[in-house]
Amino acid sequence: MKTRLTTSAKVAARLLREGGTVAFPTETVYGLGALAFDAKAVRRIFIAKGRPDDNPLIVHIADRSQVSDLAQKIPAYARQLMDAFWPGPLTLVLPRSSRVPDVVTAGLDTVGVRLPSHPIAHEFLREVGAPVAAPSANRSGRPSPTSWQAVVQDLNGRVAAILKGSRSGVGLESTVVDCTGRAPVILRAGGVTLEQLREVVPQARSSSEEDRRRGRSPGLKHRHYAPRAEVVLTDTLPIPAPAHSAWIGIGASPKGVSFRRSCKDLREYAHEVFHFFRACEAKGIKKIYCQSIPLHGMGVALMDRLRRAAAGTAKLRG
Ligand code: TXA
Ligand code: MG
Repeated sequence: MKTRLTTSAKVAARLLREGGTVAFPTETVYGLGALAFDAKAVRRIFIAKGRPDDNPLIVHIADRSQVSDLAQKIPAYARQLMDAFWPGPLTLVLPRSSRVPDVVTAGLDTVGVRLPSHPIAHEFLREVGAPVAAPSANRSGRPSPTSWQAVVQDLNGRVAAILKGSRSGVGLESTVVDCTGRAPVILRAGGVTLEQLREVVPQARSSSEEDRRRGRSPGLKHRHYAPRAEVVLTDTLPIPAPAHSAWIGIGASPKGVSFRRSCKDLREYAHEVFHFFRACEAKGIKKIYCQSIPLHGMGVALMDRLRRAAAGTAKLRG
């Protein structure tokens, strides 16, 4: 398949409406979209990514009125969260409407919905004029793409088009919140923090062991975010820096590593991390040290990604 690179939201939307898969920028990471109500088109996403079919997709909309086509029984607290955080990096998991094909929700009775804030994403979704199912636009298991070049690396020749935009602002994916119970429960930490959610709905909480056992967030069990280098978490300096090693963190960087990225704060660390992983691959780095950070605010989402990247590359060790 020839992949078309374009800066035109109109062209990209036309190719998507014709049943193609189209990658597009959002404020979190780039997404790979298809018409949510077209099961055949959505299946092409799973093929392009090599994604396990038990992992549901988030449906993206341009306008809040579209929620009623996708979900039913929307609790009052979910509406408060929409008021506060949409458009933005928050996905709400709601009881699904029967119109949503099984392939989108992996057969669950819920659907994840998000209204992105990125201007190009917004223009693109408006041009499409219908809900767009979209996971992150990486090959399954790889770091999420935060630039169109990263999408090209993973999906060139496998998708109909890539809508080019600037680097993603947040750099980590949206916060996924289960809104089917009495209070919101975070299934995946992301761009909106627990502290921010609690300012609006004080009962909001992180998912417990019990929630995880019930398997409410199918995506968590799969391998994720792994570059072609070993990822190691570290909280002490200096580190043993073998040849072809790299480091990313906040503030003072260690001596001896061949490639480093010293960020000024947590926000910048989150913004840079997936980009850095891919830059390390390009340089032939074998081992990436990532500074551990405290579990507050965005630190929760970032540590989640780092731990899973480290687990995903653990087999490279030794
Ligand atoms: O920021 C983002 O969320 C990006 C951009 C493109 O919007 N998308 C993204 O999609 O990260 P993906 O497919 O890489 O991750 C979606 C996560 C997975 O962990 C999936 O299991 C979960 O959301 N999810 C989707 N629908 C769900 C549902 N109905 N119930 C529980 N979890 C759901
Ligand atoms: Mg993903």
